[in-house]
Amino acid sequence: MKLAFIGIGNVGFSIANNLQKKGHEIIVAHDNPQSESVQKAIARNPNFSTQTVQSAVDAAEVVFLATPFKANQAILSNLNFNGQILVDCTNPVGPGISHGLNSELSGSEKVQVWAPDANVVKAYTIYGFENFADASFPKYNVRPVMLIAGDDAKAKTKVSAINDDMGFDTLDTGGLSQALHLEHMTLLWVKMVRAGGHHPNFVWAYLEK
Ligand SMILES: NC(=O)c1ccc[n+]([C@@H]2O[C@H](COP(=O)([O-])OP(=O)(O)OC[C@H]3O[C@@H](n4cnc5c(N)ncnc54)[C@H](OP(=O)(O)O)[C@@H]3O)[C@@H](O)[C@H]2O)c1
Repeated sequence: MKLAFIGIGNVGFSIANNLQKKGHEIIVAHDNPQSESVQKAIARNPNFSTQTVQSAVDAAEVVFLATPFKANQAILSNLNFNGQILVDCTNPVGPGISHGLNSELSGSEKVQVWAPDANVVKAYTIYGFENFADASFPKYNVRPVMLIAGDDAKAKTKVSAINDDMGFDTLDTGGLSQALHLEHMTLLWVKMVRAGGHHPNFVWAYLEK
């Protein structure tokens, strides 16, 4: 699949690099190809190509948003998605690892407001970036689970296929409003790992009888 990444820092690069190795084509979407994160990403994986953000969005089958949440409104307000799938990997984080929108609305629903013609799917936020680069856990006979949320069933099917390629099982949690609860899971993980000393490669699995 042709995949565009708006934001190619810790999260964007880890996902893009994993998926490029699985045979996907990666376009780094940035209006300044000289930016440090773009240059670093290309140096680490010369198979990536770069395009301006709108042309990358136009060319890709799926677009990933992996930018600081506070940059999202300005970035998205200038773009046309024409029904494109937009995977929201961003988290609104406030002071003291709190929810940045006071838990009144999810960041993904805000992203949907700023990109009304996109099909927004929340994914890749409940773990740190360390787990996106390599999702294999060879000591266990089970794969980690990626929880997703979104209003469009076809978009979620496509994101599930991408999850599969990355090495994750998918758990569809429901409509985009569920993203608020996923963002709280993120805060839990971040507090446990970044502040509480738990292992950065700790993930959840889905078990069902
Ligand atoms: N870090 C984690 O473990 C983790 C895990 C899950 C989700 N998240 C979420 O994922 C998002 C990205 O986190 P990160 O750690 O990957 O951040 P990061 O390493 O700082 O990377 C941010 C990327 O966004 C780009 N960017 C920033 N402002 C931009 C703008 N106005 N227009 C276009 N591109 C812009 C940066 O490009 P420049 O170099 O040009 O600034 C850079 O490529 C955040 O919302 C974070 O909450 C983080």
